[in-house]
Amino acid sequence: MRIIKNVSEMQSFANSLRAKDEKISFVPTMGFLHEGHLSLVEIAQNNSTFVVVSIFVNPTQFGPNEDFDSYPRDFERDKSLLEAKGVDVLFAPTKEEFYSENHLTYVQNGSLSDFLCGNSRPNHFRGVTTVVSKLFNTVKPHIAVFGQKDAQQVLIIKKMVQDLNFDIEILVGEISREKDGLALSSRNKYLSEVERKDALVLSESLGLAEKMIFDGERNSELVISKMTDLILEKQTARIDYAEIVSSESLEKIDFLKGEILIALAVFIGKTRLIDNKIIKL
Ligand code: PAF
Repeated sequence: MRIIKNVSEMQSFANSLRAKDEKISFVPTMGFLHEGHLSLVEIAQNNSTFVVVSIFVNPTQFGPNEDFDSYPRDFERDKSLLEAKGVDVLFAPTKEEFYSENHLTYVQNGSLSDFLCGNSRPNHFRGVTTVVSKLFNTVKPHIAVFGQKDAQQVLIIKKMVQDLNFDIEILVGEISREKDGLALSSRNKYLSEVERKDALVLSESLGLAEKMIFDGERNSELVISKMTDLILEKQTARIDYAEIVSSESLEKIDFLKGEILIALAVFIGKTRLIDNKIIKL
């Protein structure tokens, strides 16, 4: 596996791959990899001839009081995992290499970033679309793969790709879960033993919502209120949001119909976890 830390080296390598008609797929990550990331790598491998993974903890998507400094990092472990998986290139620029000191330009999103995570993390998605654009212009992929756990991110990136004419196909990998249902996340590392148990309530409350809806409930408020009750039984849990929205516009729905996204962000202790489920009615 070739490791590239420099933007211009990555760009010229990507040019040489394209000249040889290689099909480049790309999995952007912030590192501290888990099986969820590796499942995205598999999707990339099955859909291309050359796989690039990036590791870059992007400062512009973290708010001033968020966990940029403490975000878990283990480059050597990540490198071994990707090597063992047969990844072709690991692109891992430093912060200084990737953002010049006088960086001024950001990719602003429209209304999709006003909902869900955008409410409690102002500028988060602006940071995501900015870094993803920079990564796309550096890695020059034909395909990029993202995880459905970040449902809002997926929607915003697909819209950006469409609006800004990026010639890149976006593929989406399903949410990877622990055996007991907890969605895999690099931030699960922060959880204490008690919090790890309490964190299960995210997937449990999504399961409860799904059951209510399959049993015929169509009143969004009622479903959310049952989910909320279940979550708040856990002492360490504090709800950031629990919403049922249109899976396309992210606007709240009162009467459940069409394709809906049930989305959650819950603090377990100090750790903010997200999870979601899409249901087609
Ligand atoms: O999903 C993530 O890990 C990040 O938001 C991404 C897409 C790598 C951009 O920093």
